[in-house]
Amino acid sequence: MTDRYAVVGNPIAHSRSPQIHTLFAAQTDQDLRYETLLAPLDAFAATVRGFIAAGGAGLNVTVPFKEQAFRLADTLTPRARAAGAVNTLSFTDGRIAGDNTDGAGLVADITHNLGTAIAARRVLLIGAGGAARGVILPLLEQQPAQLALVNRTADKAVALAQAFAGCNACDFATLAGAFDLVINATSAGLSDAELPLPPGIFATGCLAYEMVYGKQTAFLNQARSAGARCADGLGMLVEQAAEAFFVWRGIRPDTAPVLKTLRSA
Ligand code: ATR
Repeated sequence: MTDRYAVVGNPIAHSRSPQIHTLFAAQTDQDLRYETLLAPLDAFAATVRGFIAAGGAGLNVTVPFKEQAFRLADTLTPRARAAGAVNTLSFTDGRIAGDNTDGAGLVADITHNLGTAIAARRVLLIGAGGAARGVILPLLEQQPAQLALVNRTADKAVALAQAFAGCNACDFATLAGAFDLVINATSAGLSDAELPLPPGIFATGCLAYEMVYGKQTAFLNQARSAGARCADGLGMLVEQAAEAFFVWRGIRPDTAPVLKTLRSA
């Protein structure tokens, strides 16, 4: 029987996950169907339970439900627990298992697709919301020389640094030094807002990574003018999907041709 999966969110029509997973399934010869699932803002849990009752095998979870998915799950992986959010749900034996593949996706894109080591490098993570929190543990597991957190609301960066041993926090006014990898995990790119980044944070050969994809954001413009190499979050999107596919199916798809298809679309 064909296994059913979907990505649940609100809004959801724009999602590229069905295309990505359908390409993965064709490539690995897996018998599955992957769709979008719109959940009303006040009925996430009921929507998930309805999908399970209809025989669904797993869900990806996107904005604005990742924290609700975290609370709904019966079991959590350590990386989901650290993220405080869930983007991958699996349904087996009447239980809801929660995982988070976002950080693994970011790390795979940077180290594998972009050929940039994180180990022993100076890393700056901008933002202290859900997107930032979701990637801290996988970044720390790469053993960077430094992981600095900077956020407009400094208290939130300080709270995150207290939750994760091995990183330090500052605000934009006190941000100093140069970094080999600068990751923008704020939502500023969505509103074209410029970040108050001091000159000199992009070290020679720096990779600037924007988690938003498909948009030349103000952050990417700032980074490019400072001479940094630039990447958007499309690779992270494909890699987090590949990791979810592995969680569900036990098979790792080849992401390169899928990323190429999406880039050329
Ligand atoms: P997400 O789940 O995408 O992380 P979020 O939890 O609402 O969304 O967090 C948004 C992040 O983007 C926060 O770090 C926010 O900074 P504040 O904590 O100070 O609100 C950051 N952000 C959004 N717009 C910004 C802007 N114009 N300048 C700087 N930071 C911004």
